[in-house]
Amino acid sequence: MSYENILYEVQDNVGVITVNRPKALNALNPDTLHEIGQAVNQAGNEENVRVLVITGAGDKAFVAGADISKFPEMNPLQARQFSQLGHEVYAAIEALPFPVIGCVNGFALGGGCELALACDFIYASEKAQFGQPEINLGIIPGFGGTQRLTRLVGRAKAKELCMTGEQIGAQEAKDLGLVAKVFSPDALWDSTMETASSLAKKGRVALRAVKQTIDRGGDADLHAGCTLEMDAFSTCFASGDAMEGARAFLEKRKPSFSGSFTE
Ligand code: CAA
Repeated sequence: MSYENILYEVQDNVGVITVNRPKALNALNPDTLHEIGQAVNQAGNEENVRVLVITGAGDKAFVAGADISKFPEMNPLQARQFSQLGHEVYAAIEALPFPVIGCVNGFALGGGCELALACDFIYASEKAQFGQPEINLGIIPGFGGTQRLTRLVGRAKAKELCMTGEQIGAQEAKDLGLVAKVFSPDALWDSTMETASSLAKKGRVALRAVKQTIDRGGDADLHAGCTLEMDAFSTCFASGDAMEGARAFLEKRKPSFSGSFTE
């Protein structure tokens, strides 16, 4: 499939989506969102893709938000459709059965911060800036910011960020639990790909179980979440990976995971 606003490639079992509109700081117009959705779908259907990395082209921005140039002509119905499109694409990212890493190389604002939040975890450059500046445009976040940000940083901090529209740096974002690790700009890409490659070699069934249990359990009460964990734990034992992992440990060798459900 060919794309105009993004790049998509697979390197050693790692799919990489690069939002590629650097002149507009990778702002998301509907075409770009549709293409991200198609690439996510493509990655999910490719047997060899075990991990996805999402990043932005150029050295200035991850994604500086939804494309504001479209806003003046938008009526409420179109705004609702645009918001729904963003929600659908970001939900598809979350629903992928393998890890997704947000590699944030610069501005991650508005819909860009929300895109990063839809990833399983975020690696950021020291130069990265995060924020939900929609309030300064007279609107609110539309691609999940009021919800995913709140679940990560708590109500009060999420309200402060969405009400003031202030930008925060990578280190503060890490202190808040929004970013997993911060790297120098030069080290960000290689470190992200190193982690992605290492995840690509782990057991697929177990990775999917971690993702689903934490995501679904996070929205459930403790008892329901623990029940999800027990079910997912037992499902791992239906995969060849669980046997291989234990045997490799006992035989003092590295495991070779196939991701299969049969031996
Ligand atoms: N939409 C459209 N174009 C954008 C854009 C956006 N979100 N962000 C940046 N650009 C464009 C600028 O218009 C500019 O284009 P021109 O060269 O043609 O004038 C180009 O990218 C470079 O931007 P700046 O000159 O502004 O660069 P800067 O370094 O001075 O500032 C910035 C960088 C602080 C990120 C600034 O561009 C900015 O504030 N951008 C808007 C951020 C924002 O408000 N994002 C939220 C959008 S709404 C949203 O996302 C809603 C939602 O939840 C779905």
